[in-house]
Amino acid sequence: MGQMGQMEQSQKFALITGGSSGIGMEFSKLLGKDGYSLIIVAKPQEELNRAKEWFTENMPDVKIVYHQQDLAIQGAAQVLHDFTTKNGYEIDVFINNAGFATYGDFNDIEIDRELAMINLNVVTVYHLTRLYLKDMVARNSGKILITSSTVAFVPAPKFTAYAATKAFSFSFGMAINQELKDLGSNVYITVLCPPSTRTGFQHRAKMDKLHLFDIGNKFARDADFVAEKAYEALKNGEEFIIPGRNSRILLKLLNHMARKRAILRMMKLSKWGLQ
Ligand SMILES: NC(=O)c1ccc[n+]([C@@H]2O[C@H](COP(=O)([O-])OP(=O)(O)OC[C@H]3O[C@@H](n4cnc5c(N)ncnc54)[C@H](OP(=O)(O)O)[C@@H]3O)[C@@H](O)[C@H]2O)c1
Repeated sequence: MGQMGQMEQSQKFALITGGSSGIGMEFSKLLGKDGYSLIIVAKPQEELNRAKEWFTENMPDVKIVYHQQDLAIQGAAQVLHDFTTKNGYEIDVFINNAGFATYGDFNDIEIDRELAMINLNVVTVYHLTRLYLKDMVARNSGKILITSSTVAFVPAPKFTAYAATKAFSFSFGMAINQELKDLGSNVYITVLCPPSTRTGFQHRAKMDKLHLFDIGNKFARDADFVAEKAYEALKNGEEFIIPGRNSRILLKLLNHMARKRAILRMMKLSKWGLQ
């Protein structure tokens, strides 16, 4: 990319929520490498400081705004959008990624943690998409990635509420993308469904004992691989991406089984004349 392209690019901003750790941090690196100026959002200042150290050492030329904010509280989306608007940051790429999981028997998980998770993974994801999409549609340019999950596709006991929040973001992102296509808009949304990915996620969800993330687990991947595949899909305008062949095969199988079970259930209902 010539000096001119790089210079123009750096006026282009990418906003990454949860951009200072795990999958989000890998997106920040990829977008920085592509010449975007970055706005990285996370809750704890220490994590932002760690990211700042890494970028100062490894990508000193990338212009970065580190924005500390808890996105799991009511109204967080409006506060973030007011911040970027007030500072004149026109967002061309929005990585709507911040999220966390709870794990365990539904009845035993602390309700406040689950309500905060639902607020972050559903309400804030919804509201941020709404606010930045409006700006992008108004200028007919821009793209959004929403981080859902491979647990979005089937009800997942122990991940009960978490899987439901990701089912929301999958359905939500795919439907808006179809609307934008039907409207002939240049703006689009890509939905990312990561498999088990080795990040701070499992520790935060108190799943350290599970082998879901083990090196030997054929489905589990590293954050850099997941972000690379997703960023490629976003640049190619794909509607959704499941990084990792094994996970794609597994989900095709699950979908087939779900469809088969649904057909069997329908046949049973019709046999009993219940439909
Ligand atoms: N790892 C997996 O196996 C996996 C699988 C499927 C989907 N996902 C999804 O991938 C996304 C990224 O997760 P990850 O695996 O990269 O885990 P991670 O390392 O825990 O990253 C989560 C990011 O979200 C941010 N975040 C969490 N709560 C926040 C809050 N209240 N306010 C602001 N930021 C907050 C975190 O920053 P803080 O430090 O502020 O908390 C962190 O930067 C999430 O949406 C997750 O649900 C992960």
